[in-house]
Amino acid sequence: MSLFDVKEKMDALAAELNQHTYNYYVLAMPTIADYEFDKKLATLNQLELDNPDLADPNSPTQKVGGDITKNFVTIPHRWAMLSLGNTYNEQDLRDFDERVRKSIGDDFQYVCELKFDGLSISLTYEDSKLVKAVTRGDGSKGDDVTTNVKTINSIPHWLKSKDVPPLFEIRGEIFMHRAAFDRLNNEREALGEVQYANPRNFAAGTVKMQDSKEVAKRPLDCFLYSLNTDKNYFKTHWESLQSLKDWGFHISKDAKLVNGIDDVLDFITYWSEHRFGLSYDIDGIVIKINSYAQQQELGFTAKSPRWAISYKYKAQEVETLLEKVTYQVGRTGAVTPVANLKPIQLAGTTVKRATLHNANEIERLDLHEGDSVFVEKGGEIIPKIINVNLDKRIKGASKIVYLTHCPECGTKLIRKEGEVAFYCPNDEGCPPQIVGKIQHFIGRKAMNIDGLGNETIETFYQRGLVKHISDLYTLKDKSDELKLLDRFGDRSIENMLNGIEHSKQMPFEKVLFGLGIRYVGETVAKKLAFGAKNIENLINSTLDELTAIEEIGGKIAESILEYFSKPEHLDQIARLKSDGLQFITQENEVALKSDKLTGKTFVISGVFENYSREELKDLIESNGGKILSGISVKLNYLLAGENMGPSKLDKAKKLNIPLITEGNLFEMLK
Ligand code: IVH
Repeated sequence: MSLFDVKEKMDALAAELNQHTYNYYVLAMPTIADYEFDKKLATLNQLELDNPDLADPNSPTQKVGGDITKNFVTIPHRWAMLSLGNTYNEQDLRDFDERVRKSIGDDFQYVCELKFDGLSISLTYEDSKLVKAVTRGDGSKGDDVTTNVKTINSIPHWLKSKDVPPLFEIRGEIFMHRAAFDRLNNEREALGEVQYANPRNFAAGTVKMQDSKEVAKRPLDCFLYSLNTDKNYFKTHWESLQSLKDWGFHISKDAKLVNGIDDVLDFITYWSEHRFGLSYDIDGIVIKINSYAQQQELGFTAKSPRWAISYKYKAQEVETLLEKVTYQVGRTGAVTPVANLKPIQLAGTTVKRATLHNANEIERLDLHEGDSVFVEKGGEIIPKIINVNLDKRIKGASKIVYLTHCPECGTKLIRKEGEVAFYCPNDEGCPPQIVGKIQHFIGRKAMNIDGLGNETIETFYQRGLVKHISDLYTLKDKSDELKLLDRFGDRSIENMLNGIEHSKQMPFEKVLFGLGIRYVGETVAKKLAFGAKNIENLINSTLDELTAIEEIGGKIAESILEYFSKPEHLDQIARLKSDGLQFITQENEVALKSDKLTGKTFVISGVFENYSREELKDLIESNGGKILSGISVKLNYLLAGENMGPSKLDKAKKLNIPLITEGNLFEMLK
């Protein structure tokens, strides 16, 4: 096949796959079996691998992700991304309507839309192709998250229709459906990972992930709701929404064109009841003046348009009975009170428990046994008690008194100065603390041990098979005992033991994070590993030496000193070391790091003599520099190789941006 034929075949496959993606994710009407789709995608992928020069950056294969973004590049918005004024009741809305009528008269229509609870995104299409996806950021500039956004199935990489403006920006909201959120969050819980509070946070966290392959695993969706172009293509917002739908964008079918504020209020009432039947969260309604000419007449305030406003729904509140207060002990020993409630329906789910946070919260509520309480579901997974219905308090009911001793091991609780939480200090003997620490160690962000989950750790602990992290590495000698356990076949034992063996290769920073030292999160663990270089240095560090490491403050340093002052911790480390875990930072990881290029921005273009573009990019980023995707006034240096495009060169000259060579870059790093 000639290259021309190959390219033609690739384009045809891409067009066909794009159509199927649109049918499935936008129209919700699939016309191909998943298996067939995957086969076609695999064929295209192979063609792209064999012919990298012919691969289109907007190919449907990009939906599975691939590129890693170390630092997101900031990009200015062509049209500022403003926010909306909020209203909370009928009167606020009538006032808004009054202001509009004073300004443009009575002859206008409103478009009512759902206010999707996600994160806003700006998509730029040039010649029908998606070229940029940028977060809202501070409204005037945001982060370039194009690679990640390309994994979202309902966002087209190219538009079938050529009858679209040559350059336009379309805005919308990225969100996660509640079912996907529940499923993924449950998986996180099972793996011992921190859960997201709500679908919005999950979606926002996902869009800012560095590994687009991981992004692709988390199903996101996107509704588009506004168009920006240099000249007006449409007369009204309603007309533009209908056309955007035809161009292939995912537009909510629930928007409505209405004639006056009473219709708007009906729309609001309808959705205040029906919103829980949607598969995603909304937090209100957006009301927009339909005519673009009238929008222009109304204009903007400094922060928001005068032609649109949002109506926010109140968090739903219900009254139910407090059955009892129980206490949970976490891996750090922190004791958290939980209100167990008479089950009740709230915001589409059954609520049985509410968090009470700490002893101060019980005091604030002045909680008594058998109280009738008002519960609200805001942004958190676990609802919250707002206050007590004092009219219903049972006479003579006794006050809820916070525990004095650990509910799990009976040790007297302590409260450190300046902290609100009570702690169980028996970290070596209190079961949930022991289990929690091992669960943290095996978690994805720490040792990421395959074939081992939180429930298994619980069972192993109950059976006396593990009591310390280091016991995981002796499980291989206990296969007879393992085989006696229910639901534990030869295959799963082998998987688990392989996972444990494999974890011995995890870098020092992961091991350090896995130890679960208080205040030593992922980032701090990295800084410590690079700063101290090995565990001996870390154990022997003084307070001053610790605080000399970047980002390590007094509180963290004291916690580290306290951890290493305990002989049982040193004993554990010695055992893990003899088991072969990594306690030294790899030299090449240290050598590359510097902050010599911090604050400097680069564009790399052309072909270089000694290094590939990818290697140069890594070199710049690992020394603190930033790579920009295009030439702009923000650029400090254009790293120029052979055969650089003339348009880039021209632009750089116009903006007076210095050109540097590979050699100049190495000079800078000396
Ligand atoms: S229009 C000038 N329409 O709400 C701002 N926004 O509070 C025009 N949002 O930043 C925004 N659903 O992230 C618009 N149907 C909708 C929306 C919507 C959700 C978000 C958006 C915006 C925020 C403003």
